[in-house]
Amino acid sequence: MECDYSYGGPIGVFDSGYGGLTILERLRRQMPEYDFIYLGDNARAPYGTRSFQVVYEFTRQAVRRLFRMGCPLVILACNTASAKALRTIQQIDLPDLDPSRRVLGVIRPTAECVGTITRSGHVGIVATPGTIRSNTYALEIAKLHPRLTVTGQACPLWAALVENGETDSPGTDYFVGRDLRNLLNSDPLIDTIILGCTHYPLLLPLIRRHVPKHITLIPQGDYVANSLKDYLQRHPEMETRLSKGGRVDYFTTEDSQGFSASAALFLSEKVEAGHIALE
Ligand code: DGL
Repeated sequence: MECDYSYGGPIGVFDSGYGGLTILERLRRQMPEYDFIYLGDNARAPYGTRSFQVVYEFTRQAVRRLFRMGCPLVILACNTASAKALRTIQQIDLPDLDPSRRVLGVIRPTAECVGTITRSGHVGIVATPGTIRSNTYALEIAKLHPRLTVTGQACPLWAALVENGETDSPGTDYFVGRDLRNLLNSDPLIDTIILGCTHYPLLLPLIRRHVPKHITLIPQGDYVANSLKDYLQRHPEMETRLSKGGRVDYFTTEDSQGFSASAALFLSEKVEAGHIALE
């Protein structure tokens, strides 16, 4: 399915499933004039336990598709894809696909903000096993804020529970509690926790119940939106290629009616998604 944008092109926002909607919501709030296309690869989510090669291949397919749909700029609103595929796509694929387009991730903007938030200097990351194993957060934070102590906790089930609409069930409560206890036992000095997976803001009330009050939780959306606005200010050649009509189109690789119903819950508004296949 191709879209007709009479002038310029929309910003593509890609995630393995519903999680990127938490980023899209913040982008739209801070940048309402721009057009967006959201693409969720729900049919193949979650990505968090998949190999590097598979996440890279799926993400490359999504980026190619969003380019074909007219997006000059694509945000990987997925930490797992940002950790495992972003660099290779930027360095190896982009020159072939279209060197004038851009693909950006969500890890760098989040790593940048943490230095001004923690007081103890001890930061925790909750994320998918893929993101934690890649060590991308620890490496990015070490470059920007070398004095911080960073502890990662893989949460293998959280994204799958969100994909299945289990944002407040007893089962989810158990796994969220267990993984947060493990994180805080590993480093009791942690005073700041990055929600390093775009699905996790949907679990925020539950996460809040399992951590002491003095701990600051960092969902990524606003930091990604701030960073994108800053990027566009510094890159007028890209900014002028983006269409501005406040329009959003949603696509999923799964059943579009199911996506529309679930996305409407996450976004508190009516969504009519289309179906596409990625290959
Ligand atoms: N929401 C994605 C992330 O930020 C991926 C979750 C998954 O598909 O496992 O990592």
